[in-house]
Amino acid sequence: PVHSLTPLGVMARKGGTPLVCLTAYTTPIARLADRDCDIVLVGDSVGMVLHGLPTTLGVTLDMMILHGKAVMRGLERALCVVDLPFGSYEESPAQAFRNASRLLAETGAAAVKLEGGVHMKETIAFLVARGIPVMGHVGLTPQAVNMLGGYKVQGRDSDAARVLDDARAVQEAGGFAVVLEKLPRSLGDSITRALTIPTIGIGAGPECDGQILVIDDMLGLFAAFKPKFVRRYANLADQAGEAIGAYAQDVRSRAFPGAEHSFGDRS
Ligand code: KIV
Ligand code: NA
Repeated sequence: PVHSLTPLGVMARKGGTPLVCLTAYTTPIARLADRDCDIVLVGDSVGMVLHGLPTTLGVTLDMMILHGKAVMRGLERALCVVDLPFGSYEESPAQAFRNASRLLAETGAAAVKLEGGVHMKETIAFLVARGIPVMGHVGLTPQAVNMLGGYKVQGRDSDAARVLDDARAVQEAGGFAVVLEKLPRSLGDSITRALTIPTIGIGAGPECDGQILVIDDMLGLFAAFKPKFVRRYANLADQAGEAIGAYAQDVRSRAFPGAEHSFGDRS
């Protein structure tokens, strides 16, 4: 399929109508998101929301390829970005290129995302110079949860300069956009104004150039916990639980299947 939005097209949206972004991990959800979203991210959050992992650290390149392929089957117009999982890019620019090129070649996605700013600058530049568009991700970087000591707000007080430096490094390395996760609104605003590439916020305030949410969070499907930055637009876990309960009751009482679900002797 011809994907109408490209990384260059995303860059041109700086300062304009906010970029609408969601994660997706499966074909049917990708089809739904494709109608209304500019960017669909195959996030490594897939490990937590679909596979029951405690963090994103256990997500593998093979998982990202499998879900990336599924999502690409559902997209016609949105830009697809696939996360490089923990351990697949940090070692060296060469390792990052080897794995990022596999992601793009095997899924057909147009871009990758990786976590980190200043310390990933060389790697981002290496990928970009070799034909791989890169989205950055700074602020709260969940793959570094063991260093950060939890999923805390980043960039408060004297830590603000570090996050700004990270975002700047992504831009200077040639990244086409950068995710800002869990920052004070004022810092999301000032980074957005300091950069010439679009910022995509998740818990970084309304001044960012775009917003992203994890699809299972905003649909109320992932019910284990709800970060403060999530607005639930539906409560699908509640609805699904009620549906399963009703089915169980119907089976036990033989109310299901009914005559309309049953077959006669003759064709
Ligand atoms: O993995 C993910 O879903 C992400 C977004 C929350 C930005 O990285
Ligand atoms: Na991610």
